[in-house]
Amino acid sequence: MHMQTAVLISGRGSNLATLIDACNSPDFPAEIICVISNRENAPGLAFAESAGIAAVVIPHTAYSNREAFDAAINKELVSRGAELICLAGFMRLFTAKFMKQWQDRILNVHPALLPSFKGLNAQQQALDAGVRIAGCTVHFSRYDTDSGPIVAQAAVPVLPNDNAAMLSERILKAEHRIYPLALRLVAEGRVRVVGDQVITDEAAEPSHALFNPPQR
Ligand code: GRF
Repeated sequence: MHMQTAVLISGRGSNLATLIDACNSPDFPAEIICVISNRENAPGLAFAESAGIAAVVIPHTAYSNREAFDAAINKELVSRGAELICLAGFMRLFTAKFMKQWQDRILNVHPALLPSFKGLNAQQQALDAGVRIAGCTVHFSRYDTDSGPIVAQAAVPVLPNDNAAMLSERILKAEHRIYPLALRLVAEGRVRVVGDQVITDEAAEPSHALFNPPQR
């Protein structure tokens, strides 16, 4: 049975699009059962609609507090039989209660090599820090923003004349590769959460390293 997955978005939805693509291949172990947006004008909703996936808008502005908003999201997820949530550019923070209800069943993608550069404008934070290698992370979400057991990461170089837009684009391409990969591993039951870490047999070649500047 395919892992019944709900994707939550607030905007563009390029990660959603790559997850939809991945789930379209016959041997992929997850199925996207619905896309929920807290913004009715989120461009990403169009990806769901054109793929024939239920696109649900639950505007946070319609609820008087976070508890009520989270309860509405939870109700929608439960009624649709969701087993896993993929946050893909979803710009709301959940209450501790919601996070507990969905503990180790929420994945998030963040445009930095966590635990560095949490929060907004992670790519600019990386530029400001002068790092030579940036990247992205897919992790199980915990209550503290951008924290939780790490499933997958990808590294990209920071180049001499990078601005935030250029670096973001390079990181985004890597996000589009690791999010489907992480979803596959989770849906196949090949990752296990132990405490604050993910245990998995999947690993890169020990010789795979990104050097920046390159080795001569
Ligand atoms: C991505 O950079 C993701 O890492 C961050 O929000 C952005 C969402 O982009 N959490 P998109 O909506 O998937 O195109």
